[in-house]
Amino acid sequence: MERIISNEAKTQVGKEILLKGWLHSLRLLGKVNFLILRDRGGLIQVVVEEKSELNKVKDLQPGSILTIKGRVQESSQTDLGVEVVIPEINVDVAVEEPWPVEVNKPEIRAGLDTILDNRPLTLRNERIAAVFKVQATLLETFREYLIENDFVEFMGPSIISASSEGGSELFNVDYFGYEAKLAQSNQLYKQMMVGVYERVFGTLKCFRAENSNTTRHITEATQLEFEVGFIEKFEEILDWEEKIMRVFLKKLHEKNAKELKMFEGVAELPDDSEIPRMTLKEALELYHKETGTDERNEPDLSPEAERFLCKYAKEKHGTDFIFVTHFPREKCAFYAKPNKENPEVCNYGDLLCNGAEIISGGQRMDKYEDLVESLKAKDLDPKDFVDYLSIFKYGMPSHGGFGLGLERLTKQILNLENIREAVLFPSDPKRIAGVSFSRSFGQGDDMVEAVRKLLDDNKLKYEFFEHEATVTSEDAAKVRGTKAEEGAKALVLRGKKTGRNVMVVLPGNKKINMKKIAELEGEKFSFETPERLKEKHGLEVGGVPPFGNLLGLETYFDKSVQDEEYASFNCGSKFKSIRMKSEDLVEVVSPKVAEISQ
Ligand code: 4AD
Ligand code: MG
Repeated sequence: MERIISNEAKTQVGKEILLKGWLHSLRLLGKVNFLILRDRGGLIQVVVEEKSELNKVKDLQPGSILTIKGRVQESSQTDLGVEVVIPEINVDVAVEEPWPVEVNKPEIRAGLDTILDNRPLTLRNERIAAVFKVQATLLETFREYLIENDFVEFMGPSIISASSEGGSELFNVDYFGYEAKLAQSNQLYKQMMVGVYERVFGTLKCFRAENSNTTRHITEATQLEFEVGFIEKFEEILDWEEKIMRVFLKKLHEKNAKELKMFEGVAELPDDSEIPRMTLKEALELYHKETGTDERNEPDLSPEAERFLCKYAKEKHGTDFIFVTHFPREKCAFYAKPNKENPEVCNYGDLLCNGAEIISGGQRMDKYEDLVESLKAKDLDPKDFVDYLSIFKYGMPSHGGFGLGLERLTKQILNLENIREAVLFPSDPKRIAGVSFSRSFGQGDDMVEAVRKLLDDNKLKYEFFEHEATVTSEDAAKVRGTKAEEGAKALVLRGKKTGRNVMVVLPGNKKINMKKIAELEGEKFSFETPERLKEKHGLEVGGVPPFGNLLGLETYFDKSVQDEEYASFNCGSKFKSIRMKSEDLVEVVSPKVAEISQ
């Protein structure tokens, strides 16, 4: 019998079918039991009544691979409208290992750090998988629409020799002894390609060495690059952006209606609305008039102003998008074309969606002399741009384009909280391709260094002690000569069901309230074993520092940790301690603060 996919089952009512997929979940009710199977079509319910069939699966973990033969029957209780009955089950791959996080619920009940720490597994969660299906549709639509409009796709380089955007956000690459850079964008190359094909686009990686941990920046992003020649005026670029946004949303509603339903506040651009366009000056005037916040002399929009403008667009124009244009020259990249009437500003603009910038773009300078002058004005050396500049000696039409961040677009369209949710394997100042730096700590001493580096980087004051080995917080307080209640005791706990770790931090003289943790985390916890602590985190009992953030762990601080002005703790080794201001500690770790002691 040939395999069919779950979402085709409704065409087979009354017939026998063969399914293959992953065991998603099992609900054991005694006489009637429900097995949910996952395949590329989604989820399907299988009703298991026969004891011998149930015995094959009842002790299996989710993820086990099953082949199921059964009859399709109509059902008003399931989303599909059908279910499979009288199954004959074959276990192809039995999973016995308990999951470190529960992924088979509609939403994972864990913090983003835990979700990213288990990325290859958490991607299997329905809602998380939906994010990337939507992202794939965005990519596909961009390609399809531009190819239809006579654009040619190009692949640009990622290793380059000079900055394309200016600024210091460049990653250096040791290139056979020469210092090369990772591309900040494909700006210069897409302009070169206009000289070849007039209309070009690319979906290319860009790298930004921004050492900031915001919810909208990552260090490796994907830019949908767009560039078009023979434009009459700057506004044509905005027209293209608006059209592309409409095409994106239309396609998503056609193709991913099921996925979109899993998100709240999905961006809207109704057919009868237009994306409002205002200059930066007008936008900041409006922001001032409506909120009283005066940023009228700023060269750029603050995140608050961006949120306000999107809210305004929604209320007044029925859309979550808004253009803000004509930024001052000082804020624009060297290649941006100044406005003829008002050369202080450029023919350049951002498109905002749902509270944040998703696109920057506009008209480019197209005269050789203007570009040389502009480079110099930005303290860039024209010698580093010889190749780029050569195209302007050999005929470049009036042109423009934009860069659209794919992850930013996904985040803003789906109204996600953090851009990392829209990256499969995100890199940021704490992770490379999803993997947290803390995983590479081999020994406690690396941890000591990591803690000190974190404090130094944040310019925080602390005292550092080296002393005889201490295991309990009482011992530690004694050798440091500090008060017991000033000790910040860090404990690593292990989820009884999922096996995942969380960190709790409380004053040295208090005990953990496990009931409270169970309530907060939705499962019971016990203390992690010394062996696993060593194996997973490279730490020994007595050496655990209260920096769950460095270990990629969800971290709770007891409220009373902040009662004392100072906090002292062993910082990765039984032989080394730190004493610092409690409020600085809370600030740098940014834990969840709750009453977790008794
Ligand atoms: O605004 P940006 O820096 O503009 C450029 O790179 C120009 N070359 C664009 C042009 O054609 N003139 O980057 C464009 C977009 C941003 O609006 C944002 O969506 C995304 O790329 N982006 C980032 N996304 C996530 N993390 C980062 N660090 C990003 N930097 C840029
Ligand atoms: Mg920008």
